[in-house]
Amino acid sequence: VIFAIANEKGGVAKTTTAVHLGHALARRGRRVLLVDIDPQSNATSWIGAKQPRAALSNVLLNPALIDDAIAPSSAAGVDILWSSRETAGAGDDLRVSSPSPAAALRRALRPISSRYDVILIDCAPGLGTVTINGIVASQGIIAPLDSGSMAVAGLSQLQLTVKELVDNEVLLSAIPITALLTRYDGRRLLDRQVIEHLDEHSIPRFETAIRNSTRVGQAFGHERTLFDLDPRNDVAVDYTALAQEIDHV
Ligand SMILES: Nc1ncnc2c1ncn2[C@@H]1O[C@H](COP(=O)(O)OP(=O)(O)OP(=O)(O)O)[C@@H](O)[C@H]1O
Ligand SMILES: [Mg+2]
Repeated sequence: VIFAIANEKGGVAKTTTAVHLGHALARRGRRVLLVDIDPQSNATSWIGAKQPRAALSNVLLNPALIDDAIAPSSAAGVDILWSSRETAGAGDDLRVSSPSPAAALRRALRPISSRYDVILIDCAPGLGTVTINGIVASQGIIAPLDSGSMAVAGLSQLQLTVKELVDNEVLLSAIPITALLTRYDGRRLLDRQVIEHLDEHSIPRFETAIRNSTRVGQAFGHERTLFDLDPRNDVAVDYTALAQEIDHV
């Protein structure tokens, strides 16, 4: 199964979710591929261990190179397809040169997808060509959401984009979007209001919410996930619960 982790809004824990959900699923014995499609390459910097010969920018323009862009990560059981700054330019090139610029990633993943149980695509903020490729390649969208109203607006934008892709026949049918509350603190009114908003608008959400911890930033600095640094940390515990919730769907 292929999930895109996306929200138009930046800084809502897309990358933190991709890296930790990936590692949590691998700890359950799943074969996991994390695909970094953000030119910022945060997931690649976080757990990329040994740089492969190629990167996503090459793969988008030449799907046959996909094996050359994948390498084991520092998180045991998780492979990562590397991104780089050039990802942004590859998106521009696709728009100019490809008859179906939104489907390049889907095409590239097809021959390798049976090797993995779960593929997680870490999208950049915004809804540019490369992010659209991530959405089109996926069967479900996980939309991380912190308590700000902007993250909720980012989710509506994502819903509209999926609808447009269906209307324009880029997608055969709508891809389900499930919200994931991140940096969640149930004592905060704002956080409870986000839940109310989702429920009022019948927007599906994961039962698991991810709590706050300053250790997340430290884990990035150490180029390791919290499962390797501090597995009993709240955030590691919550991503384990999320992995269980997803595995049972
Ligand atoms: N559960 C958490 N508790 C505390 N801090 C967190 C948590 N999750 C993420 N963060 C912090 O929030 C910031 C943004 O996280 P992250 O990079 O995962 O978001 P993003 O949505 O991928 O951002 P971008 O849109 O730039 O790609 C980072 O500094 C990260 O350390
Ligand atoms: Mg990110």
